[in-house]
Amino acid sequence: MNKDILKVLVDEKQLDEMTTRLAKEIDNDYFDNSEHVILLAILKGSVVFMGDLMKKLQTPVEIEFMKVSSYGATTKTTGNINIHLDLQRKNIEECDIIIVEDIIDSGRTLSYLVNYLLNKGARSVKTCTLLDKPSRREVEFNPDYSGMKIPDEFVVGYGLDYDEKYRTLPYVGILRPEVYNS
Ligand code: PRP
Repeated sequence: MNKDILKVLVDEKQLDEMTTRLAKEIDNDYFDNSEHVILLAILKGSVVFMGDLMKKLQTPVEIEFMKVSSYGATTKTTGNINIHLDLQRKNIEECDIIIVEDIIDSGRTLSYLVNYLLNKGARSVKTCTLLDKPSRREVEFNPDYSGMKIPDEFVVGYGLDYDEKYRTLPYVGILRPEVYNS
């Protein structure tokens, strides 16, 4: 195990089971019901989850990416969310979008994005998160598909970072506090 990890919170087997379950839930809802399903990954944290989830889907989907942040340098500022890479689609009114996230914290990113994409004209917008920290909510938000609720711990790995590090770990682990307190 990486020396900076205090404890593994979600191991590789659990992640595999979780992505299998979520793919089945999505297939149940979309397989016979939509012609244009878009899996929309929010960079960067969701890339590992997205890669595993999409391989397990039976539903034919297309993939797209957006990059957003609540702060930092912006190319286009909209409300309290900065859009660094936007979704560009000509046929958005035909698209059923599933936003794929690694984690929900305050809920601001996803609640903003759902409205943003509906306003852009999407046929429907649902959300799928690997992890959810309900205790950190600042706005009311419930995902349509959720891997696991977790306590308010600093987690990294499987796409999640601290200072851009640890994204490549194959599990979700709790970071040792001395790493971010030093
Ligand atoms: C994280 C996560 C979500 C957002 C959730 O992204 O991937 O996009 O924060 O937080 P919220 O519920 O409080 O809005 P982050 O800004 O860390 O960027 P990254 O995915 O590139 O690591």
